[in-house]
Amino acid sequence: MGKVLVTGGLGYIGSHTVVALQQEGLEVVIIDNLYNSELSVLDGIETITGIRPVHYNIDLRNKIEVTRFFENNEVEGVIHFAASKAVGESVESPLLYYENNINTLVYLLQECSKHEITNFIFSSSCTVYGEPDVLPITEDAPVKSAMSPYGNTKQISEEIIFDTCKSTILQAISLRYFNPIGAHDSQEIGELPKGSPQNLVPFITQTAAGLRKELSIFGDDYGTKDGSCIRDYIHVVDLAEAHVVALQRLMGKKNLMPYEVFNLGTGRGSSVLEVVAAFEKVSGEKLNYKIVGRRSGDVVSVYADTTKANNVLGWQTQKTMEEALESAWKWEQKVRGL
Ligand code: NAD
Ligand code: WQD
Repeated sequence: MGKVLVTGGLGYIGSHTVVALQQEGLEVVIIDNLYNSELSVLDGIETITGIRPVHYNIDLRNKIEVTRFFENNEVEGVIHFAASKAVGESVESPLLYYENNINTLVYLLQECSKHEITNFIFSSSCTVYGEPDVLPITEDAPVKSAMSPYGNTKQISEEIIFDTCKSTILQAISLRYFNPIGAHDSQEIGELPKGSPQNLVPFITQTAAGLRKELSIFGDDYGTKDGSCIRDYIHVVDLAEAHVVALQRLMGKKNLMPYEVFNLGTGRGSSVLEVVAAFEKVSGEKLNYKIVGRRSGDVVSVYADTTKANNVLGWQTQKTMEEALESAWKWEQKVRGL
């Protein structure tokens, strides 16, 4: 059996997926240019699985290096995580996002076509749904006009993959993640945001660890149960497992169509205030926070209908939000030496 290429395999979701793939007996090769990750992640992966995956420090924007990689490596499937993901930065530097998220995808698909690699998994996002008309969100919900260049790259990427599947032998699955949180139970790998975190949970854990003065909660005047926004927070270890199942679906030719899309969430919506309360409970820490104004571009309420992922993909979450928060806190404490 050939190797599985995991692009962005040293990143947050990628590293957890590499662990899950190796634990399933699959041979992994990673491309990651360390743009948003550290080489030490390889140590964490090796400690958990006993296997140090081969890593190439290649920038996927470098077409020549990408071509060379595929000439030298026999690959049976690709899981493509590598991308830039900061929504605000994408508004300031859209071309950086179009180059890093679109060019890289095109180069990879060109190589897949050249080397007849048919199995391709793509990291998409619930951001493609924008503010949904109906909750929970099914995969049939309309893709709304993107609210940021980042969101647009996910929509365009899905269209590029869909078109490629129509006219080549490529078989692909886009996985639309809701809000991934948490860390591996071993505390060997987890989320390592560079600079000030944009996302809620790393901001909470850094505040509790004393790195940030206080958490700002962006709005408590929405039309939700407690006025704060609702999201579907999924444990990153559950999310990682879904990639193994999706890849096996393609490798086993069990897919029903050349291009398929699945929501990856828990199906439960939690408010920001509920997340804070749950964090305080599992950590035993009192969190310093204040309510501030709404954050521009925030959608009010988003959570997944997971019926298709459960019944068609054959995957479901095993872990609770509390477990995810506890693991995120333990990881933060370990990283900060607390
Ligand atoms: P991450 O930044 O932790 O991981 C991405 C990895 O890709 C990093 O290690 C980075 O160094 C690498 N990378 C980026 N550009 C590269 C390039 N040109 N060449 C080689 N390597 C490159 O991000 P993540 O949270 O693990 O997200 C993984 C994927 O999932 C991304 O495509 C992201 O858009 C998508 N996604 C993430 C979330 C989330 O909330 N974390 C939600 C939905 C979708
Ligand atoms: C969650 C909730 C905030 C920080 C982003 C991307 C999206 C997707 C997932 C990749 C919201 C509130 C947050 C803080 C807060 N990524 N919050 N104080 O907004 O659902 O989505 O990550 O595809 O594209 O936009 O996630 O973690 O930023 O916010 O009150 O300091 O927490 O308003 O309601 P979000 P998030």
